[in-house]
Amino acid sequence: MPEDTSVPSDGLTAGYAAVVWNSPGGPADHPTVTILDQTRLPHVVDLVVARSWKTVASAIRTMQVRGAPAIGIAAAMGVALAAHEAPDDTSQFHAFVEDACADFATTRPTAVNLFWAIDRMRRCLSALRAHRAGTVECRRVVEAEALSISCEDEASCHAIGTHGMSLFSAGDGVLTHCNAGALATGAWGTALAPIFLSHRAGVGLHVFVDETRPFLQGARLTAWELMEAGIDCTLITDNMAAHFMGSGAIQKVIVGADRIAANGDVANKIGTYGVAIIAREHGNPVYVAAPTSTVDLSLASGREIPIEMRDPAEVTTFRGQPVAPTGMHALHPAFDVTPAKYVTAIITEVGVHYPPFGPALASAVASTRSG
Ligand code: MRU
Repeated sequence: MPEDTSVPSDGLTAGYAAVVWNSPGGPADHPTVTILDQTRLPHVVDLVVARSWKTVASAIRTMQVRGAPAIGIAAAMGVALAAHEAPDDTSQFHAFVEDACADFATTRPTAVNLFWAIDRMRRCLSALRAHRAGTVECRRVVEAEALSISCEDEASCHAIGTHGMSLFSAGDGVLTHCNAGALATGAWGTALAPIFLSHRAGVGLHVFVDETRPFLQGARLTAWELMEAGIDCTLITDNMAAHFMGSGAIQKVIVGADRIAANGDVANKIGTYGVAIIAREHGNPVYVAAPTSTVDLSLASGREIPIEMRDPAEVTTFRGQPVAPTGMHALHPAFDVTPAKYVTAIITEVGVHYPPFGPALASAVASTRSG
C-alpha cells in the first residue's frame, strides 16, 4: 500500500487533496491525518495536521473539510486514527473506537456518505472482533479499510468524469453550484470531474460558477480549483443564473449531491433547487453527478432527507462583518431537495442514468455493493 494513497495521482489535480493519511515509519509511530483547511481557501493554503480523531471530527463540524465524499473519507480516516489512539486491551479498544464512530455520526446530518463510510468501518471492526483479532491487526486492517474508501472514491470520481464527458460539447456554457471538485472528494470531484476530463481532452467548456451564499463554496473553492486547472470560468452571484440562462450563455447545469433518495430526489447545497427550476424553464438539462455511496435507497423520497440547519450568523454576517441589523432573525438551511422531475440524468461511477430513476439507481447500487 503506498504511503499517501489519497493524494490525487493525476497531473491535473496533483498538488492538493482534501484529506490525506500519513503513516510515518514503523508500527510504533503514530499516524496523522492532514486536512487542507477549506475555511481559509483561496487566499491562505493551510493544513490541519490531526493526531487525534477528535481533531478530524472537529474539522468536519467546522467545515475545514466538507463535500459529501470527502466528509466520508475524513470520518473513515478519523476512525482509523481512533484505532491507533485506543487502548491495547481488545474490549477497551473496541469500546473506544465505537465511541469515535458514534461521535462522527453526529458531525453533519445530510451527506449520507458520512454514514455509509462509518457503517463500512463498523462492519470491518465487527468482523475483526468476531475473529478475535488482536489490536495490532485491528489497527492495520482498519487503516487499510479507510485508505480503500479513499482510493475507491478517487476511482469512482474518475469514472463519473469519463461517463459525464459524453454529455458536454466544445463551447458549452455550463453552470455549477457549490463545490463538487477534488476538494469535496478523494480526487477529481463529481460535478467537476467531467469538466476536468473534458479540459484534458481539449474540449473547451466555459464554466459559470455560482458564488453559493452564504459559505461561498463556489467563489472560494470551485473558482480556485478551476483556475488552478486553467479552465475558462466566470464567477456569478446566485441570483444571476436566470439572467444568463435567458441570454443563452448557460445551456447546461451540473451539480453534485449530498444524498439521493431511491426515487431520484436530490439533496444538494441550498440554491440547487432554484437553479434546477430555472433550467427547466429554459429547456436546459440538469445533470447530477455522485458516486453510488451518495444514493440512499432506504429513503423513498427526498422528503425524508434530514436537512442540516446551520448557524444563522452565517447569513447575517459576511466573514465576520454584520450585513443585517443587529438582532435580525435569519434561517440557514444548508441544503435543499430538488425533486427528481427536474433532474435530466444522474451520473454515477456505473454510468449515466435517466428517468425513471427508481430502477436505474437500484441496479446501479446493486452492481457496486454485491457481496
Ligand atoms: O456544506 P458542504 O460544503 O459540505 O456542501 C457540499 C455540497 O453541497 C456539494 O455539492 C456535495 O457535497 C457534493 S460534493 C462532491
